[in-house]
Amino acid sequence: MHPLRFVGLFVILLAANVWCKSSKSNEEYNDDDPSEYNDEEEGDYGDLSLRSPQIESKPGSFHVRNGSTIWLPCTLKDADQFAVTWRKNDEFLYYDSHKETKKDNIIRLPNNTLEIRNASPEDSSDNYECSILYSTAPITIRHRVLVDAEGSKVPSPPSTPSPTQPLIRITPGKTVEVKAGEDLNLGCETRIQPTREVKWYHENTPVHDNVTDNYLTIMNVKRRDGGRYQCLIETGADNPLVEEINVVVNYPPEIETKEKWVYTGLGVESRLTCIVHAHPHAKVAWFKGQKEVTPKKGSIEIKGNKTRHILEILHTEKEHLGNYTCVALNRLGKAEKTISLSGLPSQAVISGGEMTKTGLILKWQLESYSPITEYRLQYRRKGDKNWTDLKPTVTNGKGNQFTVEHTIEGLQPGSYEAILLARNDFGWSLPSAPHTFVGEYKDQQAENVKAPSDSASQHALSLVTLFLVVSSCAFTSL
Ligand SMILES: *[C@@H]1O[C@H](CO)[C@@H](O)[C@H](O)[C@H]1NC(C)=O
Ligand SMILES: *[C@@H]1O[C@H](CO)[C@@H](O)[C@H](O)[C@H]1NC(C)=O
Ligand SMILES: *[C@@H]1O[C@H](CO)[C@@H](O)[C@H](O)[C@H]1NC(C)=O
Ligand SMILES: *[C@@H]1O[C@H](CO)[C@@H](O)[C@H](O)[C@H]1NC(C)=O
Ligand SMILES: *[C@@H]1O[C@H](CO)[C@@H](O)[C@H](O)[C@H]1NC(C)=O
Ligand SMILES: *[C@@H]1O[C@H](CO)[C@@H](O)[C@H](O)[C@H]1NC(C)=O
Repeated sequence: MHPLRFVGLFVILLAANVWCKSSKSNEEYNDDDPSEYNDEEEGDYGDLSLRSPQIESKPGSFHVRNGSTIWLPCTLKDADQFAVTWRKNDEFLYYDSHKETKKDNIIRLPNNTLEIRNASPEDSSDNYECSILYSTAPITIRHRVLVDAEGSKVPSPPSTPSPTQPLIRITPGKTVEVKAGEDLNLGCETRIQPTREVKWYHENTPVHDNVTDNYLTIMNVKRRDGGRYQCLIETGADNPLVEEINVVVNYPPEIETKEKWVYTGLGVESRLTCIVHAHPHAKVAWFKGQKEVTPKKGSIEIKGNKTRHILEILHTEKEHLGNYTCVALNRLGKAEKTISLSGLPSQAVISGGEMTKTGLILKWQLESYSPITEYRLQYRRKGDKNWTDLKPTVTNGKGNQFTVEHTIEGLQPGSYEAILLARNDFGWSLPSAPHTFVGEYKDQQAENVKAPSDSASQHALSLVTLFLVVSSCAFTSL
């Protein structure tokens, strides 16, 4: 490291020390601040003039029927010297004990509770505010009132309670079955007045699209649209109203396969998997060519659950190799997928490419359950027709995993592509996906390698500086 860098570091540390000290003495000064003592003394001495007023009541939600009486509390503490107001939607109802509203069903009680007698829907509001006009920032609590249109009086007969009518009616019903591709309309109708916004959820996730008033519309229903829908209506009471609709989407089978090719070897266990989605559940069968594959004790097992279907060949023999098809069928349709069970080496996957002094080293990984007999590495400049063929040496694999490494020498600058094939007793594998790379001059390459490591050491230096500043701060403030 350059000696000047050390000097710089030392200066930074010195400056940090001074700064840390000064910030500490600031704290000490703050401790002398009289306001801190006040907080502590308040409880002991109860000096009224220094106490700030408070509202002890909590905000509330009141949901009542037409004709009821409501009490909105607003209990005050240490507020004698301040004006207190009641407002509804910014309109003054009371200014201290002076009545501002013309409505004679609204009365302020001596303990500052606001009484609303014989409440009607027009008394509903989310903004009943009680405030202490204290300095520039009033202290306020807000109550919510919701008055249902329907009266509390039961017409007749007065002795039997009316059957509790649900406040929300859902359409088309608690459970809806729909076919994929159809449209669906869900409704949450309510007789609550004034009408409120309805919030919709699908599997607990909010739904905003295609919601109009109390209805949710889903065009061209998909498999993933199935599940639990909830509509939620805020009434102003503590708990919002919630209803639930369960949507069942029927759809023809859809099959996922983990891979199109399954590589195996003689004597080993082979396992083919089809993942089937369908509603109602699909019947699934396995075919090899035109022939259905059936379980055979000690040789072939067919297992799984409603989604995952597995065909297992316990000891694979040559005649087991070939193409297998899983076919899934329900009353809405049919689907099938084919998987090739093969003894060939798998398609190689590139795992590294590195430019060195001698040339470009390329690395691939592949699997084969039989010994590899030969590799073929082909590369060409982009746009050329002919491949250059190379023969990487065959090395022993680890179990069924093989690594191929080969160096391409004497590349001219330009853009290239390379593929690899492997061969075992069963034949040649599929070619790997082409790997593209750029041939470069050695000098340029060397430059490129040097630059990043240099900047990394600079990062390290600044990290060290930061750490020293922080730790020196920690020590000086002890
Ligand atoms: C306020 O006073 C009324 C009538 O005296 C009483 O019913 C009510 O409980 C009081 N409310 C509170 C919050 O103290
Ligand atoms: C509420 O009740 C009063 C009588 O207490 C009645 O006159 C009024 O029509 C009712 N309002 C509604 C919306 O039902
Ligand atoms: C919403 O409606 C539009 C047209 O009505 C439709 O194209 C769209 O797919 C709908 N969105 C959803 C989520 O159903
Ligand atoms: C089927 O089995 C797999 C694993 O064996 C499991 O992950 C999956 O949840 C199961 N599916 C059902 C529908 O039981
Ligand atoms: C299996 O299917 C593949 C195409 O997916 C085909 O190239 C191959 O010839 C088939 N093998 C047999 C034995 O039918
Ligand atoms: C490509 O290969 C063919 C046949 O192997 C040969 O006739 C032709 O000259 C080659 N082309 C080039 C550009 O090397």
